[in-house]
Amino acid sequence: MKNLFLLQDDITFLNFGSFGACPKIIFDDYIQWQYLLEKEPVQFIKKDGYHYLNIAREALANYIHCTSADLIFVPNPTFAINLIVKNLAIKPGDEILSTNLEYGAMDKTWNFYCKKTGAKYIQQDIKLPISSTEEFLEIFWSGYSDKTKIIFISHITSSTGLILPVKEICEEAKKRGLITIVDGAHVPGHIELNLHELQADFYTGACHKWMMTPKGSSFLHVKKEFQNLLEPLIVSWGYESDTPSDSTFFDYHQFNGTRDFSAYLTIPKALEFMEKHNWEKVSNQCKLNLLSVAPQFFEVLNAKPLAPLNQTYFAQMCSSEIKTSEPEKLQQLLFEKYKIEIPVMRHLNKVYIRFSFQAFNSTNEIIYLIESLHKIKKETRLIEN
Ligand SMILES: Cc1ncc(COP(=O)(O)O)c(C=O)c1O
Repeated sequence: MKNLFLLQDDITFLNFGSFGACPKIIFDDYIQWQYLLEKEPVQFIKKDGYHYLNIAREALANYIHCTSADLIFVPNPTFAINLIVKNLAIKPGDEILSTNLEYGAMDKTWNFYCKKTGAKYIQQDIKLPISSTEEFLEIFWSGYSDKTKIIFISHITSSTGLILPVKEICEEAKKRGLITIVDGAHVPGHIELNLHELQADFYTGACHKWMMTPKGSSFLHVKKEFQNLLEPLIVSWGYESDTPSDSTFFDYHQFNGTRDFSAYLTIPKALEFMEKHNWEKVSNQCKLNLLSVAPQFFEVLNAKPLAPLNQTYFAQMCSSEIKTSEPEKLQQLLFEKYKIEIPVMRHLNKVYIRFSFQAFNSTNEIIYLIESLHKIKKETRLIEN
């Protein structure tokens, strides 16, 4: 499978989670779109490109089970969350209920707007390991107050790599009349996503991670009743357009000035790639392989799994707490000496090491990681017991 990708041969690549990796055939498709753009830039950017965008939007909507009219392309989930948060009329004292497991850039976005508005970003302290969904929900909802207006939560967390019970949270939030915003950066192409069933008010996901498209391709899905709330983050020709399409939502947000949007257009090719290679089966095998080696990974780190070791919480990423005061140095050593690409991340006051298991990975590679960690423990002081 590694031959299908552009990845360097001599690296044990265990960090698919950060930025994905693009198979050759999808990357070739990307370049073909760019050629087409450069052959007739005016026709492409002003006219034909929109037709192609709509084809990509339909294909994506079909894959994630939603209506294409409720979907816009954004370069990345960070952009999407900024677009939402800037537009929500949050007031002094309003509370946004979230967790302590969110992605750092999203925390920064909320902190930025809370500072401006006087609202409060409440990060419920989810103690790890999670022992059950019921317990998680109880701890999460104990952060609710009569000031809570918005729920913000990751579907799959970043540094801890855990699937969170967002469906249950969206259902309960609905009953309490709260707005739900789900950060699904890691979800499309990784675990089943059905936006129609999930019923989040706002949902963003990256295509450039587990769907394997080139970087800078993501989406934002917004329920109809919230679309009017969203002013464009970047005001351009789509605002009060002279030539409006049938969707103000699309006009406002899709054109942000001249840029290359070829990455979005590769989505149909990425879906075709996944179909051709029976990706659902491939992904399921990765999940099983991950669970089979995970116990040894936690053992070498003298750590407990962050949740019960099953597919309710784990998909193709497995993260463990690691005792080190120099995560950057450890990551560098793993890369330079052992040729292993793996993130060692600070999160709040802890450090996590997370391996991804993609189609081209083998359990032997994880065993090699474990042996390397053993050696580092023996030979250096970088990992404490
Ligand atoms: C949970 C989560 N949310 C959001 C992001 C942000 O993605 P991007 O940098 O593509 O906006 C990431 C990136 O890894 C993530 O893990």
